[in-house]
Amino acid sequence: MRIVITGAAGGLGRRVVERAVRAGHEVIAVDLAVPDRAAAVEWRTADLTDLGQVRTALEGAQGLVHLGALTHPRHPEPDVFRTNVDGTHHVLVAAEEHGIEAVCLASSVNAIGGVFSAAARYDQFPVTEEHPTYCEDSYSLSKWILEQESAACARRRPEAAFTALRLHALREDHAHARATMNELHGVSQLWGWTSFDSAAAACLLALHRSTPGHAVCHVVAARTTSETPSVELARRWYPDVPVERALTGCTGFYATDAAKDVLGWDACDEHPALSPAESAG
Ligand SMILES: NC(=O)c1ccc[n+]([C@@H]2O[C@H](COP(=O)([O-])OP(=O)(O)OC[C@H]3O[C@@H](n4cnc5c(N)ncnc54)[C@H](O)[C@@H]3O)[C@@H](O)[C@H]2O)c1
Repeated sequence: MRIVITGAAGGLGRRVVERAVRAGHEVIAVDLAVPDRAAAVEWRTADLTDLGQVRTALEGAQGLVHLGALTHPRHPEPDVFRTNVDGTHHVLVAAEEHGIEAVCLASSVNAIGGVFSAAARYDQFPVTEEHPTYCEDSYSLSKWILEQESAACARRRPEAAFTALRLHALREDHAHARATMNELHGVSQLWGWTSFDSAAAACLLALHRSTPGHAVCHVVAARTTSETPSVELARRWYPDVPVERALTGCTGFYATDAAKDVLGWDACDEHPALSPAESAG
């Protein structure tokens, strides 16, 4: 498949480019500038806030992985909105014009609020994709809106597949995740994380979905960053939140059934190896 990847120079973008090439795909890498040590693929520079540039950047692609974004609410709110909300609208419009029928968008667990909220609020554990949003900050809100933009496009393009991946705290592996998120730091974000390999695998699997339509999937590791049993974490930090499915051992707080059902993505696997389902053929 000929895949265009926005945000290709970023932390996850570099991994998705490299994995897509390994899987036999043709890659068009898009970012504001070509990085110093750029992967040997076709690079196109484009500013996502400019629809004309996005139209040109997406020309000739069959699949889209949209990762480009401002990834923190510390940026001025208008900039976050222009880049993340307008940028997503622009890639969706250009994808429609170019007839791209496989679209993967980077969302975040923060679409419902969490790490950037004054006090994270959860209604039940595990958290499912149907959980209402209580987001407050510009970044989290932009990811919630990204999902609505995706849903609207899916309604008017019933032949195409749109997948919004709710990623979480991207890290190299479990050891790295544990070293960078202690118990207190993990409270607002429920000790969740995603390996870069897992996120990259989910992006490629999303382009090979067998059914069209809009889907939102948690792409979060099956085990937390903590050694404390999840039942104990829930009791200690969220004593009033109902636990609707047993949190055995160090089971993660985000339900990942949708990613399994829709993408065949396994939360128990850190995905170091390519699966045949990610490949070009
Ligand atoms: N890193 C995480 O822990 C995490 C967690 C959840 C979701 N996500 C999402 O995953 C995606 C990738 O994250 P990342 O960690 O690789 O981020 P990153 O900041 O490393 O990369 C983002 C890329 O987007 C590009 N970009 C920004 N503004 C642009 C514009 N106007 N036009 C074109 N390109 C622009 C940047 O140049 C950068 O290369 C993002 O959408 C992010 O919100 C990341």
